[in-house]
Parts: sequence; C-alpha cells; structure tokens
Amino acid sequence: MKRPILIHPDPRLKKVCAPVPDVTGELSALARDMLETMYDAPGIGLAAPQVGVLSRLIVLDCVKEDGAPPRPLVMFNPEVLSSSEHTSVYDEGCLSIPEQYAEVTRPAEVEVAWIDETGKARKEGFDGLWATCVQHEIDHLNGKLFIDYLKPLKRQMITRKMQKLKRERARA
Ligand code: NI
Repeated sequence: MKRPILIHPDPRLKKVCAPVPDVTGELSALARDMLETMYDAPGIGLAAPQVGVLSRLIVLDCVKEDGAPPRPLVMFNPEVLSSSEHTSVYDEGCLSIPEQYAEVTRPAEVEVAWIDETGKARKEGFDGLWATCVQHEIDHLNGKLFIDYLKPLKRQMITRKMQKLKRERARA
C-alpha cells in the first residue's frame, strides 16, 4: 500500500527517530509500503519519517542501469561505521522536497551496519550513488535534510517554494 509522503517543512521531518527494538510484522509491512511508495514516486530512497513514522528505518534501491535487476534494501537501525576521507559531490534531491536539487558534498565511500527485514545483522561498504543515498536517508533519521548542507539563503529560498507548493496543494 502506497503511503503519502510528507513535504518539507513539517515538524516530523526534523525529529531524531527512535531505534527499532524488534523487526515486527507491522514494521515489515511498513518497509514493504515504503518500497512501493519509493518505486512509485519514483525515487531511489525513502526514510520512515517521510511517511510520518518516527522509527529508524530506511529503504533504498540505487540500481539505475537499464534492464538490471532491482536491488531493494531494507535497513533497520542503519549506522555509518566508517567514512572515506575522499568526498564526492552529487546533485541531490528528496521526495519531501519535490523538484529541488542542489549539490551536496559527502564522503565518497561508507561502511554501513544495519538489521535487515529478516532481523539479520548486515554490514556492507557502499560507493557511488549508493553511498550518497544511504547517507542522505540516514540523515533523515536524525532530522536532517539535504538542504541543511546549503547556505542559509538557498535553504530559505527552497523552503519558501515548498510552503507555496503546500498551500497550492491544500487548495486543490
Ligand atoms: Ni530525502
């Protein structure tokens, strides 16, 4: 089942989310809903607070080669164990900030630990778009958006656009 995606500014997007003690059936269903919502958007990552649930859960799939099989990842309590010194710049966007993009600099490679949808502890290194995306999604769990990396003026400009978008959607 698809879920509505919250649009910035929203107080729920600024909260630090709670760790998940157990992968319950309810949380597995939420993860499936989030993947469906993400693919439908379409997007390459989604964090639970973006659908109004303040739990440490993200989903992502950054496969973009034509014809390549999808690789949906479900991460409960994801944690960056280590980051590379060298960085990469990517023109980031966010499903909670539609049609706004800006360059963000992040570590180019990260090692991440998480609990998967079966409750198993996993650990993997990511680079390229996967590294950018997993860091962007983990930021969401700490109430941080990609626009928080931008200069205040640019951030305010985007926020005003989103306020206008929300007013227009509320009237529609
Ligand atoms: Ni986002």
